[in-house]
Amino acid sequence: MTRARIIGVGAYAPKRVLTNADLEKLVDTSDEWIVQRTGIRERRIADDSEATSDLAVKAAQQALERANLVPEDIDFIAVGTTTPDMIFPSVGNIVQHRLGCRRIGSVDMLAACAGSVYSLATGAQFVQTGKYRRVLCIGAETLSKITDFTDRGTCILLADAAGAAVLEATDEDRGIIDVDLYSDGQYWELLYQPAGGSRHPATHETVDKRMHYAKMRGSDVFKVAVRMFAESAERILTRNGFTANDLSLFIPHQANLRIIEAACKRAGLPMERVFVNVDRYGNTGAASVYVALEEALAAGRIKRGDLVLMAAFGGGFAWGAVLMRW
Ligand code: ACO
Repeated sequence: MTRARIIGVGAYAPKRVLTNADLEKLVDTSDEWIVQRTGIRERRIADDSEATSDLAVKAAQQALERANLVPEDIDFIAVGTTTPDMIFPSVGNIVQHRLGCRRIGSVDMLAACAGSVYSLATGAQFVQTGKYRRVLCIGAETLSKITDFTDRGTCILLADAAGAAVLEATDEDRGIIDVDLYSDGQYWELLYQPAGGSRHPATHETVDKRMHYAKMRGSDVFKVAVRMFAESAERILTRNGFTANDLSLFIPHQANLRIIEAACKRAGLPMERVFVNVDRYGNTGAASVYVALEEALAAGRIKRGDLVLMAAFGGGFAWGAVLMRW
């Protein structure tokens, strides 16, 4: 049976650091409140000249280098992003050209913060069916560009980064075991960007009303996210004959430490086996799971044969999980 295995991972975050102390100067908040309610201490913010594809290209180059591949080796590109450079063309298209890939297929997936697992799961399907040998999967965001820095409910959370993973076909008994993807559109108004699309195209009025920024009902998102996160993790483990005890490492979407802790408690996952870096990056949307994976590998938290679970949820709602044997 052909499986898709990750053979190289890369990550990139903009240089500029925005601390909680910096945010105290922008909105009525405090370092203490932010740390206690979210676990976030600082986050990275792109400068005016940096767009999502710029971050994506850097993460992808590192992933390719670590996989000992050149751009010509890639057969398809799957990108998760909520903040493309433009409405079109896709970030995948821009990355294909900027990396110097052949004329291959590329696609962006808009699944908000679940874009990480959506892009990885999509790439894996192409590899497992034998259609493509190597797929470059990317999660990249510049969420700061759709963040209202006068809204303390969102500006303390959202941030910028990119991560990438190269998938390759293998006949070995390792790689992606299963994927689990869901969406439920009834929750769309809990987290969305009202204007800039076809419902409310950009006008002076939409700009004046700050409708091009992300709007969120934070505590409602929190409750649904915890439940879905935990259910998705439990379901994919059970379906494949595993329990939480079999897991070597859980890499959750880094939205909020409290959501991670509550979901893990519900799913019976001890925090010692959970990777957390939300304190240094905030919520980087579709990039977060990739960035966490890159750091977990660099920290030696994953070794050959480990059972690793990734799970993410985001606006829509869209959520899901990817289970793999490293
Ligand atoms: N600083 C200080 N006080 C604040 C801040 C802030 N930054 N933000 C809100 N408050 C206040 C509120 O106004 C409220 O005050 P009140 O009681 O006087 O009305 C109080 O703190 C409590 O507000 P809640 O919204 O109930 O606070 P909560 O504990 O739920 O924390 C938070 C808010 C951090 C937003 C939390 O709900 C959360 O993390 N939700 C999930 C958000 C998330 O993960 N979103 C991303 C999903 S993924 C994606 O697709 C992008």
